[in-house]
Amino acid sequence: MCGIVAYVGDKQAYPILIKGLQRLEYRGYDSAGVALINNGTHTYKCMGKVKDLEAHAKEQSIEGHIGIGHTRWATHGEPNNINAHPHTSMKGKFTLVHNGIIENYAHLKKELTSRGFTFQSDTDTEVLVNLIENIYLEQNVSAEIAVRVALSKVIGAYGLVISCEDEKDKLIAARKGSPLVIGVGESEYFLASDASPIIEYTDQVIYMNDEDVAILSKDDLVLKNIQNDAQKPKIQKIDLSIDEIDKGDYEHYMLKEIYEQPHSIGDTFRGRISIDKTKIFLGGIIDVMPKLNQAKRIIIVACGTSWHAGMVGEYLFEEYARVPVEVEYASEFRYRNPVINPDDVLIAISQSGETADTLAAIKMAKEKGATIIGICNVVGSSIPRETHAGVYTHAGPEIGVASTKAFSSQVTVLTMMAFMIGRKRGSLYDELYKQLIHELTLIPEKIEIILKSDSYIKGIAELYKNASNALYLGRGYLFPVALEGALKLKEISYIHAEGYPAAEMKHGPIALIDENMPVFVLATKDKSYEKIVSNIQEVKARNGKVIAIVTEGDETIKKLADHVIEVPDCHEAIAPLLTVVPLQIISYHIAVMRGCDVDQPRNLAKSVTVE
Ligand code: M6R
Repeated sequence: MCGIVAYVGDKQAYPILIKGLQRLEYRGYDSAGVALINNGTHTYKCMGKVKDLEAHAKEQSIEGHIGIGHTRWATHGEPNNINAHPHTSMKGKFTLVHNGIIENYAHLKKELTSRGFTFQSDTDTEVLVNLIENIYLEQNVSAEIAVRVALSKVIGAYGLVISCEDEKDKLIAARKGSPLVIGVGESEYFLASDASPIIEYTDQVIYMNDEDVAILSKDDLVLKNIQNDAQKPKIQKIDLSIDEIDKGDYEHYMLKEIYEQPHSIGDTFRGRISIDKTKIFLGGIIDVMPKLNQAKRIIIVACGTSWHAGMVGEYLFEEYARVPVEVEYASEFRYRNPVINPDDVLIAISQSGETADTLAAIKMAKEKGATIIGICNVVGSSIPRETHAGVYTHAGPEIGVASTKAFSSQVTVLTMMAFMIGRKRGSLYDELYKQLIHELTLIPEKIEIILKSDSYIKGIAELYKNASNALYLGRGYLFPVALEGALKLKEISYIHAEGYPAAEMKHGPIALIDENMPVFVLATKDKSYEKIVSNIQEVKARNGKVIAIVTEGDETIKKLADHVIEVPDCHEAIAPLLTVVPLQIISYHIAVMRGCDVDQPRNLAKSVTVE
């Protein structure tokens, strides 16, 4: 939520900030702004996207070698010009960009108001910048001390960069709960919410830790914590290329990411499945294998699409590793008083590795003694740093807000984990283990086959693009896929859609079915096949329109359904990896046909770093 970028060095900062903000726009796109420090601070900001900011700033000559920028996802205060960042303090001493939420802002605002401060915006950020200014002026301290003292009074989360009129060659950055990466160049430093704005200038980065404060000038970096203890900067090489974050010839990132799945899934299992396809080795969890082998229970926590992947994990772990599994929404789990025992293993799944609720759930379970495993995509993000062990999905950067390849890579990791643990615990016999591994390695080429049906699927999308509602039905392993299909449609095309276990239809949703209701049924050949055929008949008997995802060559359902989309045959345990693809494609086309902003749907942001 919200993207931050900053630069200090010899280059012109404005183009670096704009390009950086474009790369970070997936984090929020309500409004955008920059401030350049050059004989005073010059701020340009407006409601809308980075392209609107560029148009707004076009007439000005925007020069300066130090600058900060922000792209916003509104929390406090509606998206408008005034609430856009950067925010400048009342007396003009400080200018701030901020990602996160200052929870005690109302109390701080009251206190500052009683001291004569007035506010232009509705944001918590403006309160913070004035708090810093108040300390700076009242206590007559340096900008850095004012920032640290102010942050010690703040409750909440922040990633921030601030400039001070009296210390023009410096930027101060701080992090707690919201990510910040420092790029280390030759006589220059970059700061950003993730590494994507930095990679074309340097591959040397420092991931800031919670409560770190960095003081940067073009030739100097000082890293300390809020308590003023020096911290040793750990410079790392980023493993990310520009190609990976480029849209290439695709019209949208989402489409590119759908098409990347044969490769991204391959990257997820590469090096983790032996060449002879007889063994799985997940090095990242090897240290916690004894805990996993003895676990009496696995708790999976996640949000959104990652939660759907977790549900597939539940079916897999219970069937093949014979461990009871509970799949929890992180946001609910953290605010209940769940029973957590030291012999529980908690698996947290997150593409971004920054989701606030998932992070908080981890911290709570850790305090109660559980062993924590992370399944994350973004290397160096917060969640992998909070866990005892973990497996990166290696799906590559996912930029479209709607998650596609991250889901399939998460499911791939969970599948490998379930098979590996099942084998270790003796609940999965060798022959089946090898067969399942072999089948998993065939998934990329089978997805290539599905992608060839794109234009056929687009034809189906054309028929249903004006629907107001849609139902998604699945059983067993394909029930979470039904949930995921419904989420994909609703988040990018704004059509109301619901996923249901097919057998539950009779307990309520069947009342919705009429000739206007498209019903997507996941009906590949598995142990529930006969039952799902009956469910299709029930929908047809009520004139619903059935779009069935079937195993290639299925003649039975072809006669019943209005449309069938075939996927190659595979073992039911890995069918989610295939059946989700046509649902992603159909959602994509429907959203494009409806004129929706596919990569940046309204009201959403890619990583939800506020609760
Ligand atoms: O980064 P995470 O996987 O933790 O994000 C969780 C959800 O916010 C995310 O999956 C969201 O539901 C996507 N927009 C779904 O496409």
